[in-house]
Amino acid sequence: MARLTWHGHSCFTLETGDGTRIMIDPWLDENPTADIKAADVDKLDYILVSHGHFDHFADCIPLAKRTGATVISTFELVSFCQQEGVKNGHGMNIGGAYLFPFGRVKLTPAVHTGSIAGDKEGAFTTDCCGFLISLDGGPSIYHAGDTALITDMQLLQGRVDLAILPIGDNFTMGPEDAARAVEMIQPETVIPMHYNTFEVINQNPESFREMVGEAARVEILEPGGSYEL
Ligand code: NI
Ligand code: MN
Repeated sequence: MARLTWHGHSCFTLETGDGTRIMIDPWLDENPTADIKAADVDKLDYILVSHGHFDHFADCIPLAKRTGATVISTFELVSFCQQEGVKNGHGMNIGGAYLFPFGRVKLTPAVHTGSIAGDKEGAFTTDCCGFLISLDGGPSIYHAGDTALITDMQLLQGRVDLAILPIGDNFTMGPEDAARAVEMIQPETVIPMHYNTFEVINQNPESFREMVGEAARVEILEPGGSYEL
């Protein structure tokens, strides 16, 4: 049994059956919707970062330094973290997968822009990604990161139990495109993210649920809320 907890925006903690704690897109201290602060995080084994924008990355380096968590992301973003003093990093690239002790992580394509907050020279600019996380003996979770609707999502069809999709519009897919992504991916369950953080991405998740209809079960979380899988 694994537990996924939403901290608002795109930030989640995934706790696997054996107690491994994985945080995705850590943004807590400046996140107006977060249920916790970075200081509340005591144990963390891995941090997955979809891209370097502050709203996905701001708490990554301090958290990785304090907890010793291994940062998993694109090669460039991990190199930047290591330059800034993070000890444990695992760089990857789009389309590649690696078997970690908790399961297999594959970087999926995302169409979005790619600067890294804190990289003053712009030397580490990188592409953005999503994650397909196949837990050891358990379900597969797709965290799309920040992305437009892309036809590449069709390649995930039949391979995803839980899809976590942005619905905020303006910076990412909006509800209509996210509902089309659900048709392509055909997951059992969908959790919407990346909405109601800033005024420009205000959305009603219930309308997204209506758009998805019978295609999948839509699980709407409140920040601090969990989903068992
Ligand atoms: Ni972004
Ligand atoms: Mn974002």
